[in-house]
Amino acid sequence: MPARLLRRCGAVALLSACAIAQKPIPNYDEAKVPVYTLPDPLKMRSGEPVRDAATWQNKRRPELVQLFESQMFGRTPAAWPKAAFELTSIETGALGGKATRKEVSIRVAGKSMRLLLYLPSGARGPVPVFVGLNFQGNHAIIADPGVTLADVWIADPQTKKRVKQTAAAKTRGTTANRWPVEKILAKGFGLATMHYYDIEPDFDGGLPHGIRPLLMTPGQSAPAADEWAAIGAWAWGLSRVVDYLETDKAVDAKRIALMGHSRLGKAALWAGAMDQRFAVVVSNDSGEGGAAISRRVYGETVADLNRAFPHWFCANYRQYSGKEETLPFDAHLLLALIAPRPLYVASALEDQWADPRGEFLAAVAASPVYQLFGKQGIGTDRMPEVHQPVGGAVRYHIRAGKHDVTDYDWDQYLAFAAGHFQMGK
Ligand code: GCU
Repeated sequence: MPARLLRRCGAVALLSACAIAQKPIPNYDEAKVPVYTLPDPLKMRSGEPVRDAATWQNKRRPELVQLFESQMFGRTPAAWPKAAFELTSIETGALGGKATRKEVSIRVAGKSMRLLLYLPSGARGPVPVFVGLNFQGNHAIIADPGVTLADVWIADPQTKKRVKQTAAAKTRGTTANRWPVEKILAKGFGLATMHYYDIEPDFDGGLPHGIRPLLMTPGQSAPAADEWAAIGAWAWGLSRVVDYLETDKAVDAKRIALMGHSRLGKAALWAGAMDQRFAVVVSNDSGEGGAAISRRVYGETVADLNRAFPHWFCANYRQYSGKEETLPFDAHLLLALIAPRPLYVASALEDQWADPRGEFLAAVAASPVYQLFGKQGIGTDRMPEVHQPVGGAVRYHIRAGKHDVTDYDWDQYLAFAAGHFQMGK
């Protein structure tokens, strides 16, 4: 058994259990976090220092994007047919008159994804919009009978095979606790959301049902080791949402904030890194493979990701399972790719699997890049108490409770984005 695994198992008594179960017991002990050195954001791989914003933008940033592409998320194909948009429904008096609700079919190369958009009624001009993918379908984010029921994949109880079907009407609004639509609208924002399964269903074997095969070469059945995986596909879908928003005159496409939770937080960070049209980026409990420092080997690890979700990252990422110290980057550099755009990283106290401290430390370690642009980073290396947000253009909070998105989280994100978008001024 490798020494690292031994360390993570903690006690010798656990050794045999560890070996049998294969799945290592997660480390939740700070004393067992290995000593590590993070790659310096302000040093090229060649060792050349990055002393100004232009060198960051023109040299270090492209170097890092290329590394994240080839070693983690996989390369997103550059050439795509242009997206076409069709407004499939509109209601100006939705939510008791508080909103205009639109549904837009975004079509690319014969594949269609359904966008749900709420815009506040009575806006005096184009409005800023929060964009986020959802887990269970557009109809699940709000109990609004006007929203089309999503396609969902249900595992057949007998055969265990997954089959696509229309969601049951009783699932309307089942994830509404994560999407305070009326609060978002009341603060002057629109909300644009899409079911991530519309881009690619999230299971090992979902590939043929998503958008990735559309750009495979004839005869190719799987992406190459450095080609995009499911998270890359979801990130691509987020950019298609922006493509649409840029065409909607009721939307201010210069003020688009992106929010993602958990695996969709990983996708949001990658989308924000690649597509600089996202003016604000929010990572909610994105954890390993998102905002958390991998080298800490605390909670979920690279090996856990590669084992449980082999379709999320490119095949090259597998070489770092159990070898986090050999990664040519870490989460702080993914966060730094958002710079100088405002970035919010949030954790939850009971979400130790996502390593809240690792998320905080990544935000701290990304801060020098923001400072290079004259922006305020986290400003402290002391982990704050719960409900005590810290930082400026890079901001962080940890709240009480479990892995989730709560009203507390949204209150911070709305205030953060409103401040940076100079709303109410
Ligand atoms: C699992 C996974 C995490 C992921 C989370 C989620 O817990 O291990 O990496 O963030 O699911 O998406 O809810």
